[in-house]
Amino acid sequence: MSEWQKTDWRKKPRVQMPDYGDTDALHAVEAQLSKYPPLVFAGEARRLKKHLGAAGRGDAFLLQGGDCAESFEQFSADSIRDTFKVMLQMAMVLTHGAKVPVIKVGRMAGQFAKPRSAPTEMVDGIELPSYRGDIINELAFTPEARRPDPAKMLQAYTQAAATLNLLRAFSTGGYADVNQVHAWTLGFTESKKAEAYREVANRISDTLDFMKAAGVTQDTAHTLQSVEFYTSHESLLLEYEEALTRRDSTSGNWLAGSGHLIWIGDRTRQPDGAHVEFCRGVLNPIGLKCGPTMTSDDLKLLMERLNPQNEPGRLTLIARFGAGKVGEHLPRLIKTVREEGAEVVWVCDPMHGNTIKSTTGYKTRPFDSVLREVREFFAVHASEGTVPGGVHFEMTGQDVTECTGGVQAVSEEDLSDRYHTACDPRLNASQSLELAFLVAEELSSLRAARLDRAAG
Ligand code: PEP
Ligand code: CO
Repeated sequence: MSEWQKTDWRKKPRVQMPDYGDTDALHAVEAQLSKYPPLVFAGEARRLKKHLGAAGRGDAFLLQGGDCAESFEQFSADSIRDTFKVMLQMAMVLTHGAKVPVIKVGRMAGQFAKPRSAPTEMVDGIELPSYRGDIINELAFTPEARRPDPAKMLQAYTQAAATLNLLRAFSTGGYADVNQVHAWTLGFTESKKAEAYREVANRISDTLDFMKAAGVTQDTAHTLQSVEFYTSHESLLLEYEEALTRRDSTSGNWLAGSGHLIWIGDRTRQPDGAHVEFCRGVLNPIGLKCGPTMTSDDLKLLMERLNPQNEPGRLTLIARFGAGKVGEHLPRLIKTVREEGAEVVWVCDPMHGNTIKSTTGYKTRPFDSVLREVREFFAVHASEGTVPGGVHFEMTGQDVTECTGGVQAVSEEDLSDRYHTACDPRLNASQSLELAFLVAEELSSLRAARLDRAAG
């Protein structure tokens, strides 16, 4: 078999990708992007893969979160900081419950392209191409705005580079120092969860005081002052992905230089399609969305294609069935994984199977359905004896009103107050933290059950 080439996807059927009319402009952009530096490095991707391998065994836990779609217009240092901060808070709560390291991966610095349920949109009798994310076209409902423009890839690259630069600074520049656990306070000081968070923070600072008194080594102190934070996005716009793909000089393998982890969406996972062809050839950890239509046969083929060496941490299966449907689909896919003896990390995305249209016309997600899907995910893994390896959320650090429910009780009428998402509804900071507490409870009972078994 001849060696994989980063252009091979072009020979395969492609779905959910724009048809750029102006091929000269497209080629010019591709040539330009190919000269730009990669955003991430092979050593980082390998390190993340190693951590994910641990998550697959229950020795770590993945927290993946961020915008449904990053936006050019809403790009700001504050919004990056706020999402980063909420993820640190959530990770603290999760670590405290699970007593294992939490792997932090943002849907950030590249999450621009969106698959859509319909290729066109009809408004007042006018039909235009659907909005496909800021890297492709614009949200405004005009023919000009909806025309795919390849130059947007350059703007997306620039924004991704600036985002990643800030994330790297936050991760190592003192902001993420665990001694700051109290300083990452919430804007919502009144909520019950803020109180619960302060309690966890108090216990953590007690522990830190104890460690200081006991004389922790310089090495440990350094670990606590910085955090590893990784980036991820859906590998959808393959022209962009290909242009940022580079050969790793140490191993000779190919790296998707656009982000640490890339995933294949539920609509683009055809085993013989372009997206699978592209992802199979790069060394990055790969995510695969698994919705209700994922068949056992497809999953087998996909695992074989995407992880032929059965490498731990290479393949993350992101289950997104919808509340009430996990019991029907997850056990059958777990069975397939078991039969194949495949190494995977099971992650729960309780967002994409729970999108509804509110009576007020907004696309929303009831917080209760999100919670319910998470609980069902943990329950199935408990009864199957398999490992729940992580969670995947659409969330923001901003105080938006996009998902209904939560302790702040966002109602359908409230949705119009601060509905800012460029695509799907996100959990706000308070809802995200509330969810982290729930997941932490699930993880801590799991741990208790494990300890019981070990003792018995
Ligand atoms: C997404 O994660 O934004 C997405 C489109 O998910 P899915 O492919 O699972 O529908
Ligand atoms: Co989404």
